[in-house]
Amino acid sequence: MTMQKVLVAGASGYIGRYAARTFKQRGWFVRVLARAPEKLKHPGPFGEPLLDGMVDEIVTGDATKPDTLHSIADGIDTVFSSMGLRSSRPGLSYHDVDFLGNVNILQEALHHDVQKFIYVSIFKADEMMEMQIVKAHEDFVQALKDSGIDYSILRPNAYFSDMTQFQKMAASGVIIWPGDGSLSINPIHGEDMGDICVDAAAPGHQEIDIGGPDIFTYKELFTLAFTTINKSPRIMFIPLWVVKGLHTLIKPLNARIADMLAFAISVNEIDNAAPRYGERHMKDFFEEFGGKNVSEK
Ligand SMILES: NC(=O)c1ccc[n+]([C@@H]2O[C@H](COP(=O)([O-])OP(=O)(O)OC[C@H]3O[C@@H](n4cnc5c(N)ncnc54)[C@H](OP(=O)(O)O)[C@@H]3O)[C@@H](O)[C@H]2O)c1
Repeated sequence: MTMQKVLVAGASGYIGRYAARTFKQRGWFVRVLARAPEKLKHPGPFGEPLLDGMVDEIVTGDATKPDTLHSIADGIDTVFSSMGLRSSRPGLSYHDVDFLGNVNILQEALHHDVQKFIYVSIFKADEMMEMQIVKAHEDFVQALKDSGIDYSILRPNAYFSDMTQFQKMAASGVIIWPGDGSLSINPIHGEDMGDICVDAAAPGHQEIDIGGPDIFTYKELFTLAFTTINKSPRIMFIPLWVVKGLHTLIKPLNARIADMLAFAISVNEIDNAAPRYGERHMKDFFEEFGGKNVSEK
């Protein structure tokens, strides 16, 4: 049997590093796309694996610049993309990176007759389309479906890496949160996601909702963020109507802050418990990266 070849886009990020390593561990030929390959010489800020010397090829390219992407998919069977923008800023939008950047990668995949494209979108995206990041992801999902290529779409609800934001707030003494913290969420570890990413390479269209093994209410999650750094929980809940009022006021003035507020509102209106996968636990992760050891991403 010939060796299957994968291109991983987003390989310097939290999920991309684990996906690339798992493909390699399962016997694939792994090419990764990175715009800053030097990052791959070091582990990620949350213990994600370094990829330099471990994958077969590292190609340098910027997804928003099609000229830098020529031949990235040459000889490739499957493209995996967790490529996306962490936060928008003036001059660079989610539309530019998450949508147009992934369209550029898809064009290369189609040009080189790639068989399958695996893309990481967002859990319950259809209920949060007013957020620019969600819309950009789903615009790409539509382009992917329209392209005719075989696809798998992964829809995780949250990653362990992002939960360290709460522990940082806990370390500072207080967590301030809209609503009453009663809705639930089950974040997943990147390593557990790595397995799901590679399983998704199986032929046939798939859309998979994904969460981790432990379901928490936000209040329980925040309490864990405190107790794992030996602090007494101090959580301040802001009534949701206040946040909604702010959102209405800010929307015409500042799209970025409006998007953050829309996110805060949606996590208080949409329950985020997703089907449970994986075996790594939030508590262990918080204990490992807790308090003052929490890294900036
Ligand atoms: N965070 C969550 O809880 C959550 C939940 C559901 C879904 N998701 C989605 O899951 C996906 C992966 O998340 P993650 O936490 O792994 O993201 P991440 O750590 O921010 O990684 C994003 C990757 O995209 C790369 N990238 C950004 N712009 C690029 C460009 N112009 N050209 C080439 N590469 C570029 C980054 O490279 P650099 O290192 O050079 O910046 C990085 O490798 C994202 O689409 C995210 O929206 C996240």
